[in-house]
Amino acid sequence: MIDKKIVEALNVQINEEAASAYLYLAMSADFKSRNLDGFASWMKIQTQEEVVHAMKIYDFLNSRDGKVMLQALNAPQDTWSSPLEAFKAVYKHEQYITGCINKLVKLARDQNDNATELFLGWFVTEQVEEEETASTVVKKLELIKDSSTGLFMLDAEMGARVFTPPVDGNE
Ligand SMILES: [Fe+2]
Ligand SMILES: [Fe+2]
Repeated sequence: MIDKKIVEALNVQINEEAASAYLYLAMSADFKSRNLDGFASWMKIQTQEEVVHAMKIYDFLNSRDGKVMLQALNAPQDTWSSPLEAFKAVYKHEQYITGCINKLVKLARDQNDNATELFLGWFVTEQVEEEETASTVVKKLELIKDSSTGLFMLDAEMGARVFTPPVDGNE
């Protein structure tokens, strides 16, 4: 059995992960409209990863007999002034998500829910990677500044990313 407060908080986090997926899909569409296909593809994969995050929580709640209750999603922003602006927004968003995860960890700890705390450990590690990735792209875009050659090179590099589906329900 799982505490009601934790069920509610994990349901909110499913919504945050789904909202992240929606945000990154909007960014993918914006990049696509600017013919930055590599960035668009990278963002589409990022969307798939966020769906995986939401599904992890979905599966965990079900395995603990917690009822999944999906909530409404707001329409995301649809245009960013430049790739740099978009990636600065990604970095900020991921820092916000890290804060959400940290609050969840604290709640699990306060409720002595070891299983949830342990489960959230994966997300703690994942957020380190998410922030590092976003911050690296921001730094590269800052280096590139107004160089279209640099932007095309980075676009090609971003386009090389492949989506690795989870091996099982827990990865
Ligand atoms: Fe996520
Ligand atoms: Fe993320």
